[in-house]
Amino acid sequence: MSIFYQVRREYDLTGLSESDLTASPYELFETWLNQVMQIEAIKDPTAMVVATVDSTGMPFQRTVLMKSVDETGFVFYTNKLSRKGQQLAKNPKISAIFPWLAAERQVCITGEVELLSASENEAYFSSRPFESKIAALASKQSQPIENRDILENKYQALLSEYQGKEVACPENWGGYKIIPSSIEFWQGGEYRLHDRFIYTLQQDENSSIEKSELDSNWQVARLQP
Ligand SMILES: Cc1cc2nc3c(=O)[nH]c(=O)nc-3n(C[C@H](O)[C@H](O)[C@H](O)COP(=O)(O)O)c2cc1C
Repeated sequence: MSIFYQVRREYDLTGLSESDLTASPYELFETWLNQVMQIEAIKDPTAMVVATVDSTGMPFQRTVLMKSVDETGFVFYTNKLSRKGQQLAKNPKISAIFPWLAAERQVCITGEVELLSASENEAYFSSRPFESKIAALASKQSQPIENRDILENKYQALLSEYQGKEVACPENWGGYKIIPSSIEFWQGGEYRLHDRFIYTLQQDENSSIEKSELDSNWQVARLQP
């Protein structure tokens, strides 16, 4: 047995107090994101781990890159026929975590996804380097493949086919916006007395307005560490 009882450290960089809280959690999120983007040890500040569930309720998590955020949610792009895409088609519930460990911070989100429109997908897809567009065409993400050669041959064939041509966004590729119902901020504290604040979206049940267009109303609570 390998034991890691001593693999531990103090979290004492800073605190998070009531006076740091903003009315909208997005404002605090953007402040934290801007701060962690300055930390060299955090190589992928926009990386988040997203969990989805299958039809039995079994969760699965994987890292994706958040490509945009505003007051309506957090966007990532993927293959809609991938495992996550198939799971989200059946159950749009999702959780996400930004694990900013070098900053002794994490942000944990729960919510549901909405699909982006074809024009939004195209806008991001067109910004990708040519090779990344071709890779998106070449990979049936999450499907088994016999060996790497088959994949590389397909990639090379598509590279030649599309040389000098526009690569349109494939229909099965696109963005998901996480519409949060809660956003929790965690800042490591001395002696394991961490600071935690959870924002919860208060929704007007009778509203006919689309969730993402609601003038959001957040309640915030401090949680015990
Ligand atoms: C740092 C990092 C960033 C990633 N970004 C993405 C991404 O933006 N979109 C994506 O589809 N997969 C991304 N991946 C790969 C996913 O983690 C995952 O392997 C893939 O999406 C298939 O997941 P699924 O089979 O659960 O659908 C990334 C992986 C890492 C480690």
